[in-house]
Amino acid sequence: MNDMDMDIKQNKNQDRHFFSTPIYYVNAKPHLGHAYTSIAADAATRFKQIQGCKTFFLTGTDEHGDKIVQAAQKEKTSPKEYADKISKLFKDLLPCLNIKNNYFIRTTDPDHIKVVKDILSKIYESGDIYFSSYEGLYCFGCERFYQERELVDGKCPDHGTEPEKIKESNYFFKMSKYQEWLINHIKTNPDFIQPEQYKNEILSFLKEPLEDLCISRPKTRLTWGITLPFDDDYVTYVWFDALVNYVSALGYPDGQLFKEFWSSARHFVAKDIIKPHGIYWPIMLKAAGIEIYQGLNVHGFWNIKGSKMSKSIGNVTDPLQVIDTFGLDQFRYFLLKEMVFGLDANFTQETIISRINSDLANDLGNLFSRVLSMNHRYFKGRVQGSDPKIEKDKNLSLASDAETAIDDFQKTMSVCAFNRGLEAIWKFISKMNKYIDTTAPWTLAKDEANIDELATILYNLMEGLRVISCLIYPIMPQTSLKMQKTLCLAKEGDNFYTLEETASWGQIKKKTIIAKPEILFPRIDTGKK
Ligand code: MSP
Repeated sequence: MNDMDMDIKQNKNQDRHFFSTPIYYVNAKPHLGHAYTSIAADAATRFKQIQGCKTFFLTGTDEHGDKIVQAAQKEKTSPKEYADKISKLFKDLLPCLNIKNNYFIRTTDPDHIKVVKDILSKIYESGDIYFSSYEGLYCFGCERFYQERELVDGKCPDHGTEPEKIKESNYFFKMSKYQEWLINHIKTNPDFIQPEQYKNEILSFLKEPLEDLCISRPKTRLTWGITLPFDDDYVTYVWFDALVNYVSALGYPDGQLFKEFWSSARHFVAKDIIKPHGIYWPIMLKAAGIEIYQGLNVHGFWNIKGSKMSKSIGNVTDPLQVIDTFGLDQFRYFLLKEMVFGLDANFTQETIISRINSDLANDLGNLFSRVLSMNHRYFKGRVQGSDPKIEKDKNLSLASDAETAIDDFQKTMSVCAFNRGLEAIWKFISKMNKYIDTTAPWTLAKDEANIDELATILYNLMEGLRVISCLIYPIMPQTSLKMQKTLCLAKEGDNFYTLEETASWGQIKKKTIIAKPEILFPRIDTGKK
């Protein structure tokens, strides 16, 4: 082991974090559901960054298989041309969502294809892939065989269509051999599948005997895929190809990124794809002799009027349109506040408007403009600083409330409870709004004798705003920066404050001239008084 490897090994799981989104199918353009997973994973990544960790964030597109062929046929184009076009839409969406990804993988990339073939060869040579004839129920929408017991009223639970009985000779992956190992792995690594209900769902599925996985498709039926390295007549099953992206993107087996980040991998997915991620993927890794990923963070569905938002139902919301109407940080805030990670949530115009007007414009926006306007009115924008004696005697410090907010924020964000992380910040915001009401600076301002007390109050409030600006960074990076620019605290470029820096009270320098506040969040006019 060289020095670099030693260094990586020692820091393992401590200060490196790898987050991924699913790689999205390129059979339709991105919608709000895709945007949510990417934003949630981005917020988790940025949160780790403010904790002082080194991060890697991966997203991309899944481009092989029947679905893509069918979509391309509809548009009278080739699968590759179609994939290029839609993949670009997913890629171009990222900056519009302010996603800081380190890499964008496409399963048609030659490097990825090579890794898929290497892993297949490795597993084939070890004897865990065998050739056999199989008759089963196949759902073309899901591109997989179903067992009777998985169907609902004889129909595919995702597509509501009856699977077709087909008979084929194919290659199979011996998943059954690893069933006991997987159960044990899940049980001994309690945060492997999060939240708990999804871990239980996988464990309950594993109570029944696991069938071997059909990992090939004959070229007579499908050519748009990665040819099996050991049989030219077959392409690889799309999931076996897609899951490998998580390691191929890092340069498996020898890449530096793989060595640095793989052992810390956490995959963000919605509940629709827990089986491939919670069962196939760990078993594939085990069979290929690759370390098992750290964990799976599973969220629920965005629904519209009670049904899952999905391209097949046709009830999708375009994230770009929502951003255009309401603003980017408003959108990011709404998604992360409204959905309890793990459960379903409903998307409606009314709820987003009400969140913007109450939480953002009223609570945070008002606090920001109230404090900075008072600083202008009473001190012409010049920071006076706090008088330690007055602060102590009159119990005016907000430092310990800020500390509580930071602690609660850390605890909740660490487990992807984004809504509770935001609640911790909003509790502090509400504390600050009450502090203004009880200290009534406008009354103190009437008498010159109270000037030091007034300065102390405003200093504490501005420090409170500073802490808020740092904490909202993972969720609303633009607003964080805007607040920091106004407070003359912005770092160069896209830089942020670590939580350790955030927690150090008293950063705003005396004599700084702070500009009049801009409106952070314009109110949305609903026509209601
Ligand atoms: N290509 C596979 C994933 C392969 S990963 C190795 C795939 N693609 S997908 O385009 O169908 O994306 C599914 C994912 O998109 C979900 O797991 C989730 O992350 C996101 N969502 C799609 N619709 C969604 C909702 N209505 N609500 C929440 N997330 C949604 O599956």
